[in-house]
Amino acid sequence: MSKFTLRWGILATGGIAESFSRDLTVNPETRNVNDIKHEIVAAASSSSADRASQFLKKVGAPSSAKGYGSYEELVADKDVDIIYVATPHSHHYQNAMLCLEGGKNVLCEKAFTVNAAQAKKLAEKAKEKNLFLMEAVWTRYFPLSIYVRDIITSGKIGKVHRTFADLSIGTLPEDAFDNSHRMVNPDLAGGALLDLGIYALTWVFQTLYHTQPESARKAPTVVSSLKKYPTGADEMTTMLLTFPRSEELGGDAHGIATTAFRTTPDPDGKGSAGPAIRVQGDKGEIQVFHPAFRPSKTKLVLFDGTVEEKTFTQPGPGKGSGFYNGFGDDKNPEGEGHGMFWEADECAFALKEGRKEGKYEGLQESIVIMETMDEVRKQNGMTYPEKIETTKFPTQL
Ligand SMILES: NC(=O)c1ccc[n+]([C@@H]2O[C@H](COP(=O)([O-])OP(=O)(O)OC[C@H]3O[C@@H](n4cnc5c(N)ncnc54)[C@H](OP(=O)(O)O)[C@@H]3O)[C@@H](O)[C@H]2O)c1
Repeated sequence: MSKFTLRWGILATGGIAESFSRDLTVNPETRNVNDIKHEIVAAASSSSADRASQFLKKVGAPSSAKGYGSYEELVADKDVDIIYVATPHSHHYQNAMLCLEGGKNVLCEKAFTVNAAQAKKLAEKAKEKNLFLMEAVWTRYFPLSIYVRDIITSGKIGKVHRTFADLSIGTLPEDAFDNSHRMVNPDLAGGALLDLGIYALTWVFQTLYHTQPESARKAPTVVSSLKKYPTGADEMTTMLLTFPRSEELGGDAHGIATTAFRTTPDPDGKGSAGPAIRVQGDKGEIQVFHPAFRPSKTKLVLFDGTVEEKTFTQPGPGKGSGFYNGFGDDKNPEGEGHGMFWEADECAFALKEGRKEGKYEGLQESIVIMETMDEVRKQNGMTYPEKIETTKFPTQL
């Protein structure tokens, strides 16, 4: 059987572009995916073609892959089927729109955009051009996430009434980031909310919203509190979401999503402090341990006394392969993928099947999540510069 090959173009050469691209080089058969292949055919850097070529070498792309010194050249490459947008969130709207206007399918890093208005415009453009567009919330495509959602939809923990979800990183921002760093720089849409809080919201939404029948998915109301860092970006944000639900489905559900730089749900790095996520039903709960973006451990605890722990390691080429991936200085064990290939596989499946959106988070859900974050920023007076909030395309950033 001939395999469907998805030909990737990588837009930007920073930290996550590196992790994602390395995962693309892992043979899908190592995760029992036997009908698709990924190929990196090009990368572009806004700094220079030489940087793009160095990047391709570093991530193990085929020697035929082309390095471009501008994003426009990448978009014009006829050999590219889909572009992975890996710039800071401030740039996602302009970069993704450039790709869509140029007729390319897009996988765009989280947070999808700076605000919901931009997300809507991208969704409209993808529809108009009949292109695939997906927010790269990789965690949604993990086998662990599928397992948790199955636990919920099977009714094992009863009707789900509440989810607590935290992604905080236990880092002193003054030591870790200078004020121009994208994590704290408002010019790059910095702050905990858009960068980390999106994962706390991911768990709240995939357990209280996505697992509901489609016709019953209703946008939540939100109350929130946000603490600002001296740059004006947020360093700690707490959100209380109420999801309206019919009595038959269990009545309203509550989601508590929290994020912060300075604290962590896992102070000793061994899970001793308990789970980062608790999904609570009227027959028990399913817990997920830190980190919310790349979790590997769950615990099911039922009213009837059942306790089941599960561990999910990421597949990959295995020990002795010399393959290493990770993010920044955090390296995974030899042979273990980072886990970004699951979302890449979803892009291939979608394009093979003619679907235009991701299966486990469609554009409508990405938009509702952006609306939630808009509301949190509005309630707490957190704004970004107009040039990164605008929907005007093109805008020079
Ligand atoms: N899924 C995940 O686990 C995960 C993890 C980390 C980050 N992310 C997301 O991925 C995106 C990028 O994060 P990152 O950590 O990879 O950032 P990064 O290391 O700073 O890389 C961003 C890249 O974007 C390009 N860029 C273009 N204009 C830029 C500007 N004005 N300032 C800075 N960079 C600019 C640069 O590449 P060129 O010079 O080559 O153009 C730069 O290397 C963010 O939206 C973030 O939320 C996702």
